[in-house]
Amino acid sequence: MSDMQAILIRGGRVIDPYRQIDSHDEDVWVVEGRVAKAPPTGADVMEVDARGLWVLPRLIDMHVHFRDPGQTWKETIETGSRAAAHGGIGAVATMPNTVPVTDTPELVEWVKNRGEAVGLVRIFPIGAVTVGSQGEELADLFRLKQAGARAFSDDGLPVASSRMMRAALTYSRDLERVIINHAEDRSLTDGASVHEGLAAHRLGLPAAPETAEAMMVWRDVLLAGLTGGWLHLAHVSARESLEALSYARQHQYRVTAEAAPHHLLLNDEALLRWQYDSVTKVNPPLRPESSRQALLKALKQGLVNVVASDHAPHHLDEKALPYVQAPFGISGLETILSALITALIEPGLMTALDAWALMTTGPDQVLGLHSQGLAEGEPADLTLINPTRKWQVDPAAFYSLGHNTPLAGMKLTGQAVATMVGGRWTMREGEVAYAGLSEIS
Ligand code: DOR
Repeated sequence: MSDMQAILIRGGRVIDPYRQIDSHDEDVWVVEGRVAKAPPTGADVMEVDARGLWVLPRLIDMHVHFRDPGQTWKETIETGSRAAAHGGIGAVATMPNTVPVTDTPELVEWVKNRGEAVGLVRIFPIGAVTVGSQGEELADLFRLKQAGARAFSDDGLPVASSRMMRAALTYSRDLERVIINHAEDRSLTDGASVHEGLAAHRLGLPAAPETAEAMMVWRDVLLAGLTGGWLHLAHVSARESLEALSYARQHQYRVTAEAAPHHLLLNDEALLRWQYDSVTKVNPPLRPESSRQALLKALKQGLVNVVASDHAPHHLDEKALPYVQAPFGISGLETILSALITALIEPGLMTALDAWALMTTGPDQVLGLHSQGLAEGEPADLTLINPTRKWQVDPAAFYSLGHNTPLAGMKLTGQAVATMVGGRWTMREGEVAYAGLSEIS
């Protein structure tokens, strides 16, 4: 008997957008942290019965806020990692609006190392575009990349100056790292809490039109054309933003975009249901039904190639402030996978293979990860999903420190039943492994 351990995941439906495989006939072997063709002779085999389950390669949520360092009452790298594992997510890209802003190589390394020490999810840090995300001086993008930054963004804030954006996009081309912009013309949104529509008027809340987003998206697209740079649009939500994206596609500019799950499942009528409860307060805000429909269509057409949560946890006391003072943000890591199934797969809008590309090959391309899914020899990062399980969102059960979501009480379809990273189970049947037991191989 050898001591070698092997895991056999048997009988599941393997859906692997990297290899364009959707098959009931593929079993997955895991040996020494990697996907294997077969076990070594004499290996001790642990079999997992995956009948009725979907077997997916690592799901990536490329837009999360872990608040670490600096605002650890909202979330830490450890609690955020636990939330990811619980939600079936194997990799995240963390936004740099920490305190201080992740704008130095030392901070990028710190985030990366802390993520590895926790060992529950692969963390790809995003570095700031400008020093302190203040929009005045370009950060040292070259050194940030060397330290491990997979992308650059001032998310939470737009890169307001066109001149600065032009410079950043020019660097992105040479550095082969994408610029992710949070598009928002702040001179139009200043003081606004919600989308300017009927719900806002009924509640008397300060509001801004979606034109504020679309204007900057158009600017960014035109600058991507001018520079030949690499642009990714964070959380697009406005109808006219999608027209800019379509223009970029026609002209073969290097532009990609993501949608957030709350914009897929909800429109601004959710405000009438939740009234002055700030769980609906998010930036960009919940939009009218016409924009939601346009977004769903853009996903179906492949114009938007990523779904990312914009997981933005805040403390209960902060979200309990009056609507106008409460911070923007929704905790999304523990519902994103089910939201994608409920919004896109269950109604038959997209095939499972195309829909899962939005959390696998889509973000993989944007972050330049070059992984190959569940191909032999790849790290054994995977998620098992029960695709038919219906469950009701209960934020009290979140591992995240943020319990704020307008999806609370909603019935969603499909749930992760196990997450594996580097051959190790980080979650099984809702139970998250303890952090720091072993480093991810
Ligand atoms: O709702 C949001 N919250 N939108 C953002 O752009 C930033 C984020 C945060 O950091 O809380």
